[in-house]
Amino acid sequence: MRKRAVLITGAAGEIGLALIQTLAQSSQLPLLTLDLLPLPDSVSGMTTHVQGDILDRALLSRLVSEYEIDTIYHLAALLSTRSEFTPEAAHRVNVEGTLALLQLASEQSEWRGQPVKFIFPSSIAAYGLPDLETKHAYNRVREWEWNYPRTMYGCNKLYCEQLGIYYSQYYRQLAADRPVMLDFRCVRFPGLISALTVPSGGTSDYGPEMLHAAAKGAPYACFVREDVRIPFMAMPDAINALCKLTEAPQTALRRRVYNVTSFSLSAAEFRDWVLKYFPDAKITFEPDLKRQGIVDSWPADLDDSAARRDWGWQPEYDLERSFSEYLVPGITRRYQRAHEH
Ligand code: SER
Repeated sequence: MRKRAVLITGAAGEIGLALIQTLAQSSQLPLLTLDLLPLPDSVSGMTTHVQGDILDRALLSRLVSEYEIDTIYHLAALLSTRSEFTPEAAHRVNVEGTLALLQLASEQSEWRGQPVKFIFPSSIAAYGLPDLETKHAYNRVREWEWNYPRTMYGCNKLYCEQLGIYYSQYYRQLAADRPVMLDFRCVRFPGLISALTVPSGGTSDYGPEMLHAAAKGAPYACFVREDVRIPFMAMPDAINALCKLTEAPQTALRRRVYNVTSFSLSAAEFRDWVLKYFPDAKITFEPDLKRQGIVDSWPADLDDSAARRDWGWQPEYDLERSFSEYLVPGITRRYQRAHEH
């Protein structure tokens, strides 16, 4: 008998580590995790972890011979800044990796006669506004607007959204007997901020980096201009969005790709919030024009009304609560502990 399980790829990343902690408490099924890296001790007892590559077909075959995968959280990806240095490698991981997982989920859906839920985090990077004038004029973008990404990562995310829709609605559409198709569900996240981990390889990283540097007492030079505005979300809300979307009844979902967001901040406002809690923080602005260009192409805000309407999405952590109840206490504890060890 194959063991039923929930699979999380990219499990050692920022979203993965937070998701493991939540699902270890709430999931009816055991967790199976996959990542190139080992998991830290803090979560390693909560899951069966496989260290390996999503591009390793033999490894994926071995997993499905042992497990009946009920739900997949496919989080493995190279983020936007990292992807610009190695675009073809990013395409392999972000697109070919997703295709391999979609194929695995398809075969599982067919084999068990029931759709596998395929939960996919996409990003504000799927958008690309041509200039600042347009960015200011369009403020809150809806899912189908400005889908002209400027980064390899954004192109990869947008295309994988389409692949997910294809695999869940049109896969092998000319076959005489239509297969049981997977159930693809996707959220486009804003910049995520975790109290527990520091991001790496993203372009929205200046927000969390500013905060973590302040808590450590280190100076920070922000790589975007003070006026740059993008949406953000605290990690508990990101996890909440993934879990809520997973649980939503299929009949309620009128789309497969949903914007979700919490608050929008300019980099200067972000600095001011950091200074409110860490008044000695040394934050300067030294824009890197190239990374700046990427953030300028991302929307200032997201319209998440479809998610609110269809599956009751609502952030629990607004700006004030994110800082005062989650980020500041969590980050302070993190560096106090690091200090004590
Ligand atoms: N945080 C991501 C990045 O900066 C955006 O999805 O690449």
